[in-house]
Amino acid sequence: MLDQNRIQQLRQETPGVAELIHLNNAGAALMPQQVLKAITDHLELEARIGGYEAAADQMRPLARFHMVLADFLNTRSRNIAYSGSATDAYNKALSSIPFEEGDVLLTTQDDYVSNHIAFLQLQRLKKIELVVAPIDTSAGGVDLTAMQQLIKKHQPTLVAVTHIPTNSGLIQDVEAIGRMCKEVDSWYLVDACQSAGQLPLDVEKIHCDFLSATFRKFLRGPRGAGFLYVSDKALQAGLEPIYLDLHSARWTKEREYEVVNSAKRFELWERPHALILGGKAAVELAMDIGMPHIQERVQMLAHHTRERLGKLSGVRVLDQGPELGGIVTFHIPGQDPKLIKKQLQEQQINCSIVAYDSALYDFNRKGVKWALRVSPHYYNLEEEVEKLVHSLKGIIR
Ligand SMILES: Cc1ncc(COP(=O)(O)O)c(C=O)c1O
Repeated sequence: MLDQNRIQQLRQETPGVAELIHLNNAGAALMPQQVLKAITDHLELEARIGGYEAAADQMRPLARFHMVLADFLNTRSRNIAYSGSATDAYNKALSSIPFEEGDVLLTTQDDYVSNHIAFLQLQRLKKIELVVAPIDTSAGGVDLTAMQQLIKKHQPTLVAVTHIPTNSGLIQDVEAIGRMCKEVDSWYLVDACQSAGQLPLDVEKIHCDFLSATFRKFLRGPRGAGFLYVSDKALQAGLEPIYLDLHSARWTKEREYEVVNSAKRFELWERPHALILGGKAAVELAMDIGMPHIQERVQMLAHHTRERLGKLSGVRVLDQGPELGGIVTFHIPGQDPKLIKKQLQEQQINCSIVAYDSALYDFNRKGVKWALRVSPHYYNLEEEVEKLVHSLKGIIR
């Protein structure tokens, strides 16, 4: 458990908390000083000695990026690739799956909006069959029994599951689904964009072939940077993304190329080294604090937020699931979410809005056209949640 001294220390290392109550960590968390310093130090070095020279100077710390991420996910550095964003990582993984006409892609109703758009595009371009597993209406979350039946029936080429959706507090049981995929040998792609930095991730336990995430959310890293895990099975099967370059492949003969034999085949040569060092610093901090401690505190604060909001007259908390994480969503009938967000921001409280077209299945089922989203991190305080509740009370009235 994180004690009060540690929380105070972590707050002191977070410049943003002095000025505001940041409850938009599912959007982008406040960067700690360690991350900011890693980025600015490298940018200053680039400005002083040149970009290529700075990369050569920082070769060792840059090479450690893959090792640190490997430790974080319980894998090896050869299985890690840098990416420009979670979606960049995700789409590269998706582009490497050897779909043929009629192949099945199985997903859930709560998968991320951009993932659903990419699936629909694949359906149009590659004539795959898109199967969306139903929700367990009593517990919330994907119906695991139905998922098992669909996997057995369709033997999908790919099963794609978002661990923590952008639009609800739900945590999907990605480990149970991983065991199902293993039985039929489907490729398994997990979107861990909201779970990376929020709870422990172990790719061995999840049994996934790909896992994509960003640094800017619960990992507290910079914007414009993400990563991809690629399993040995996927590497050995020769899966490769569209398109390659001189870093991800070698031009061996005039009419031949070879992909590199690590997950670096999912990277491109040009990368923002300052952000890579910032991302590494963010992961090092998360591991130093301890992911189980982070998970415990985030869930405690989110649970407290749900309880307090649930007691506010007119507020409907929307989260449903066998296990809930650090994202709290709620609806207030008859109110304008943009106005509420603006009024909260005027009181130095940050939250965000989930739009209808980011969560079609979920919001249609819940009968709402928007949700306000509050996402505390370990550096938030229960007093800050109280201030949010107090402010909301005034705004709704
Ligand atoms: C669950 C989930 N997946 C993917 C993404 C996309 O991340 P990025 O904007 O880094 O591509 C988000 C962003 O909010 C998300 O919440």
